[in-house]
This record gives sequence, C-alpha cells and structure tokens, in this order.
Amino acid sequence: MTKIAIVYYSLYGHVATLAESVAEGIKAAGADVDIFQVAETLPEEVLGKMGAPPKKDHPVITADKLKEYDGVMFGISGRYGSYSAQIKTFMDSTGSLWQTGAMVGKAAGVFQTTGTQGGGQETIGLTIVPFFAHHGMVFVPLGYAEPKVFSFDEPHGASPYGSGSFAGPDGSRMPSDLEKDICVSHGKHFATITAKLAS
Ligand SMILES: Cc1cc2nc3c(=O)[nH]c(=O)nc-3n(C[C@H](O)[C@H](O)[C@H](O)COP(=O)(O)O)c2cc1C
Repeated sequence: MTKIAIVYYSLYGHVATLAESVAEGIKAAGADVDIFQVAETLPEEVLGKMGAPPKKDHPVITADKLKEYDGVMFGISGRYGSYSAQIKTFMDSTGSLWQTGAMVGKAAGVFQTTGTQGGGQETIGLTIVPFFAHHGMVFVPLGYAEPKVFSFDEPHGASPYGSGSFAGPDGSRMPSDLEKDICVSHGKHFATITAKLAS
C-alpha cells in the first residue's frame, strides 16, 4: 500500500488542523498516512510569551523515518513569505538522506497557512521547491485539480502550489469548511499521483 507522511510545524494549531483534513483525503484515496510534527526549537519561555497552546500529540519526526514513505506532504506555518526556522532545522537534519539519494523519485507536496492574504500562500510553495529538487523528489502541485480553488465566493487560502488557510492577522481565524474541503481534495490528489510514482 502507498505510504505517505505528513510532516508539519504549527505554532497556534492552524496547520495541525489542515493536516487532519489532508490526511482524510489521503486515506479516502486508499493510501496509508502518518502525521508527524517537526521538533520545536523555541524555548518554553518564548512560546509562553507568544501565547502558543500545547502541541498536539502527533509524534516528532526524525529524518531517517522519511525513508519509509513513498511521498511526503509538508505543512508550513508561514514566516515572512516562506517556511519557519523549525522546518528549516528539520530540512538541515536530512543531509544523510541527500547524500545517499534516499528520497530520489519520491513524491513531495506542500500545504500552508498565513496570517494574511498576500502573506505567502504561493511563495511558501515556491520557496520549498529547492529543497525537493535537491533531494530529487517529484513536486506534486495541487494545480486546479480541485475546482474549489477557483472559488471567488469567500476569502480562502490555497494556491496552485498547495491547499492552505488564512489564520488572520491576529491568528483568530480557524480553517473554514471550504479550506478544509480543498485540503481533503489535495490529499486525494497527492495520494493518487504518489501511488502512480511508486508503482
Ligand atoms: C515570526 C512570524 C512571521 C510571520 N510571517 C508572516 C508572513 O510573512 N505573512 C503572513 O501572512 N503571516 C505571517 N505570520 C503569521 C503566521 O503565518 C500564522 O501565525 C500561521 O500561519 C498560523 O498557523 P499555525 O497556527 O499553524 O502556526 C508570521 C508569524 C510569525 C510568528
């Protein structure tokens, strides 16, 4: 059976919520999915001052674990239009996988949250592609495979690079039903392509 890992970082829980919807879509497409988070790098004192809630109980991933999967979906909490230092720290721990070509030919995808509409829904996808390329992974974008990405009825995250959500400038907006639907479709689409690549 096709095996997919979701690897995310979430400070306030928005990306963690999207991860569950993406996983729902992956399972609906008949693939196995495990959800992981990357290790936190901020001290507890700083997390407290930032008002971060406790983490979900998804296990913390180590780089070696990635070898077990046919595809990896990264869930990104936006930082200055790109990914966070926590994700970067995890990326930098994958050097031995890079040197041994362990990830070559595996599928890669991305979903994201940003505080604001112009805050990185597209650039997060763009800026993570070099990581995929260096590992020889095959980037599977969402495109408009889910027609709801076209929707103009209400503000929503997502772009042709991947599904997504707006957290709002103060983080008070949780993912909408429309955004979660797009995440489910994204998971299905990613699992379908990953199964083809792995066959
Ligand atoms: C240091 C920092 C930088 C951020 N940079 C951006 C940004 O460039 N654009 C934006 O729209 N939101 C930005 N945000 C807001 C985050 O993207 C938002 O808190 C996050 O998407 C919420 O998801 P999470 O709860 O899963 O962490 C930033 C937040 C922090 C803490």
